[in-house]
Amino acid sequence: MLLTGFSGGAITGISVAAVLVVALLAVCVYITFYRGRKTEENLNLEPYKHSSNKHVPGQANFENSSEGGSLNKGSSPEVPRIAVDKSIEFSYDELANASDNFSTAYKIGQGGFASVYYGELRGEKAAIKKMDMQATKEFLAELKVLTHVHHLNLVRLIGYCIEGSLFLVYEYIENGNLSQHLRGFVPGKVPLPWSTRVKIALDAARGLEYIHEHTVPVYIHRDIKTANILIDKNFRAKVADFGLTKLIETEGGSMNTRLVGTFGYMAPEYGQFGDVSPKIDVYAFGVVLYELISAKQAIIRNSEIATESKGLIGLFEDVLNEVDPREGICKLVDPKLGDDYPLDSVWNVALLAKACTQENPQLRPSMRSIVVALMTISSTSADWNLGEFYENQGLAHLISGR
Ligand SMILES: Nc1ncnc2c1ncn2[C@@H]1O[C@H](COP(=O)(O)OP(=O)(O)OP(=O)(O)O)[C@@H](O)[C@H]1O
Ligand SMILES: [Mg+2]
Repeated sequence: MLLTGFSGGAITGISVAAVLVVALLAVCVYITFYRGRKTEENLNLEPYKHSSNKHVPGQANFENSSEGGSLNKGSSPEVPRIAVDKSIEFSYDELANASDNFSTAYKIGQGGFASVYYGELRGEKAAIKKMDMQATKEFLAELKVLTHVHHLNLVRLIGYCIEGSLFLVYEYIENGNLSQHLRGFVPGKVPLPWSTRVKIALDAARGLEYIHEHTVPVYIHRDIKTANILIDKNFRAKVADFGLTKLIETEGGSMNTRLVGTFGYMAPEYGQFGDVSPKIDVYAFGVVLYELISAKQAIIRNSEIATESKGLIGLFEDVLNEVDPREGICKLVDPKLGDDYPLDSVWNVALLAKACTQENPQLRPSMRSIVVALMTISSTSADWNLGEFYENQGLAHLISGR
């Protein structure tokens, strides 16, 4: 017998050790298997196909749905997955139901590239933009990035749908666009007081400063105009449509051949040579400032000679070059304001607009220094002559950080 020569105690010891080894092996096998399953679950990043009844609306969805987010605990144990795109993909049926099949009663706007409908989606008021174009794969990737750009002064992109056409879903902004407010298209609305106009300018400037300087990647809007500045129920302004130019460019041809923008707002270097820099947004923003003062359109049609039209910039520059420009500026102020405006403040905004619309893009201030200037203008305690500020190039460069 093999066991001959071993004592009873030794046999017991060997048996206990063997049992321990087997138990240890079992634990190792279990841990390896369990960990493996967990890793599989974590790597399963396949986009989540939306199921209409599980979504909880609101900001939390966007924060929670970021790539690498938490496990989707509600899904079945057989198909574990992460809800990467759960909050940003919509089905066509969902959008059609919310907008009564895109009926005219739900239509809230029409642009050059889209029809816009109101709809309540997943408990949140939304503006659904039905685009006249399809999205490329690259643009869809871009859209996912855009849904993560959040700022108080930017209209939030909630999500999209690519069934049939391309649909973009934005947070709904209750109070129409700035163009409507200035031109009195909002029924029952009183004209915007001067102080509100300055706040709107500051809000829009902050939104633009954010995309120019703080997002990754940074964006140049390229289509700043009063129709793309939306007003919320508290009369705070939000910039709409940033990041969309890539979509329009792809549709229209190559980067260099397709100009995106609106006549009257287009910086000369962009219109003539297609040169793109943040300063093209600064130029367009300057036109918006002139509109806030005068409530006139960026292009003024001469009613007597139908073919003749003049830019708002030209109109203001003629006056600013007069011997007594302050008096001339009074004549350009929106008549709806009556005498209810501080001339110094209007004058400073006009000078800021002039600085923004200079021919040479390098001489235009950055959005950051525009924000600083507008903060100064809007603060009542400001005892600061912005006219001198703009004549003092050294100080202007200092403020803009150049
Ligand atoms: N998120 C939104 N909330 C409320 N209204 C909106 C929203 N987005 C757009 N609108 C309305 O729909 C209108 C049309 O928007 P759209 O962006 O399609 O065109 P546009 O900005 O007027 O011109 P363009 O085609 O040059 O962009 C806007 O002017 C605005 O009044
Ligand atoms: Mg728009």
